[in-house]
Amino acid sequence: MQKQREHWGSHLGFILAAAGSAIGLGTLWKFPYVIGESGGGLFVLIYLLFIFLIGIPVFIAELILGRKGQRGAVGIFASLTNDSTLWKSVGWLGVASSFLIMSFYSVVAGWGMNYVLMSLNQSYEGLPAPKVAEMFDILVSSGDITLFWHFAFTLLTVAVVYPGIRHGIEYWARFMTLTLFIILFVLCCYSMTLDGFGDAFHFLFYPDYSEFKFSSILEALGLSFFTLSLGQGIMLTYGSYMRRDEDIPKTGGIIGLMIIFASLLSGLTIFSIVFTFGLSPEGGFGLIFKTLPLLFARLPGSLLISTTFFILFVFTGLTSSVALVEVVVANFMDLFSWPRKKTTLLVGAGCFLFGIPSALSGTNTLFANWPAIYGKTFFETINELVSVWMLPICGLMIAIYTGWAFDRALCKEEFSSGTSWKWLFHIWFFSVRWIAPVGIILVILQKGGILDVDTIVHSLFSSKP
Ligand code: TRP
Repeated sequence: MQKQREHWGSHLGFILAAAGSAIGLGTLWKFPYVIGESGGGLFVLIYLLFIFLIGIPVFIAELILGRKGQRGAVGIFASLTNDSTLWKSVGWLGVASSFLIMSFYSVVAGWGMNYVLMSLNQSYEGLPAPKVAEMFDILVSSGDITLFWHFAFTLLTVAVVYPGIRHGIEYWARFMTLTLFIILFVLCCYSMTLDGFGDAFHFLFYPDYSEFKFSSILEALGLSFFTLSLGQGIMLTYGSYMRRDEDIPKTGGIIGLMIIFASLLSGLTIFSIVFTFGLSPEGGFGLIFKTLPLLFARLPGSLLISTTFFILFVFTGLTSSVALVEVVVANFMDLFSWPRKKTTLLVGAGCFLFGIPSALSGTNTLFANWPAIYGKTFFETINELVSVWMLPICGLMIAIYTGWAFDRALCKEEFSSGTSWKWLFHIWFFSVRWIAPVGIILVILQKGGILDVDTIVHSLFSSKP
């Protein structure tokens, strides 16, 4: 198929579309609860450090490979490496991660849809905090309801991908990304008036060494990859639609900053509520659903605000889920020349079926012994497998490829084309060649128990007076 490849309409359009796919449930739902479970301050700092030192450089690397390769994830590696099986499997790993993420992503977004309905019904109006939290627990343990919403959300995603994504979703992504920022900002301003704001600020920005577990460093790395949508070929694909005069390094930087900004806004809002109502920051993956209704119930015009918020929650999830499904669909279309419609339906059905155990994981009806064997539910197992292992490993391979195997002159040319930040090349290249791979490998060794940063760091700190 020798088609002329499409390109993004405008630079701003591209930034908002890429940011729209990256800003999703990771920012609104995952960031706050992972921070809450991992002790706050120091974890946030490490997360930010990973974004700057490893995340953004790998992000730029993906865009560069994408613009050079002009294909989908597996195809890019096939064309750049003369069909090398090793590198193609990196593409496959990315495709597999997207599929796995989608299977639980739609469960979470489905809970969001349920909360739209609850907001319209004013179901949690005036209830005390424990009751609001309990409603979420009831939802998770109601298999049929969760399954219904999981199905509804998968169907919605399929409906958008089915006719092709560009015209509809790109347009909507722009609008929704901006609206989301405004709403988050307003909510965050309101949460400043709550008693718990000071504590929330302290919790997020004050590094407390005693609370911190170094073993969760890999989680911070995984989280930074998850929120930046790295390691799954989406940025490779988006890069392939970029024009040669577009500024890759600047784009990477801007999108990174947007994501950090959105994450911190949602973190501040949620933890202000947590501390105001005396909830526990370690609320787990239901944190956002257990806290925000409490804020909404206090606001004048709560019906409007909470409904709008959860609709936006679903839509930001949708702009991301569409990209997740598109990675898989585009890959199969490319490789096997399948028609889009058939591929979309097949992938959608696959995502739905594979998501069933995640949707039912709070109910003990399917894989009832899973938690006893793996220590966590099916949902949590897949979530952790992807974010903690697959994304960092795929990112590692992309960094190694760009830094070591890819032609350096080509790389420089691609980096410099269209940017006024050419001087950054050496710093970026150093990061992709050394900091990112070494950092990721260290973190993986730590997680695998081969290296113990905990003891090393503690011995460093305990030698202080
Ligand atoms: N970054 C998205 C979020 O924060 C989730 C995500 C991960 C994603 N990988 C992706 C979205 C790939 C689209 C494509 O929610």
